[in-house]
Amino acid sequence: MSVRIAKWLPIQVNMDALVIGALLHDYFLYDWHDGKGRHLHGFTHPECAFRNAEKDYTLSPRVKNIIIRHMFPLTPVPPTCTEAWIVCIADKICAIEETLFRR
Ligand SMILES: [Fe+2]
Repeated sequence: MSVRIAKWLPIQVNMDALVIGALLHDYFLYDWHDGKGRHLHGFTHPECAFRNAEKDYTLSPRVKNIIIRHMFPLTPVPPTCTEAWIVCIADKICAIEETLFRR
């Protein structure tokens, strides 16, 4: 979805950062439906995903921004680069599609 949006936009996009960030944005590595009281998952998982990704990969500042900011506006600080905005919006589109059409 992020690549589709990026190709549609008439602006320059760092596709490497976009794809890496899109793949790692939910790299929290646990099942948040496991009944362990993860009620704050929506607020906390971007930081968790970033910490996990940082352990396993070398991340550019742009990729970090994608991962950390993808839950805006649930988390209050907005993305600061085009690629992070694209993944943030793609995430909402996918969530809406999954909620409305796949359950
Ligand atoms: Fe997420």
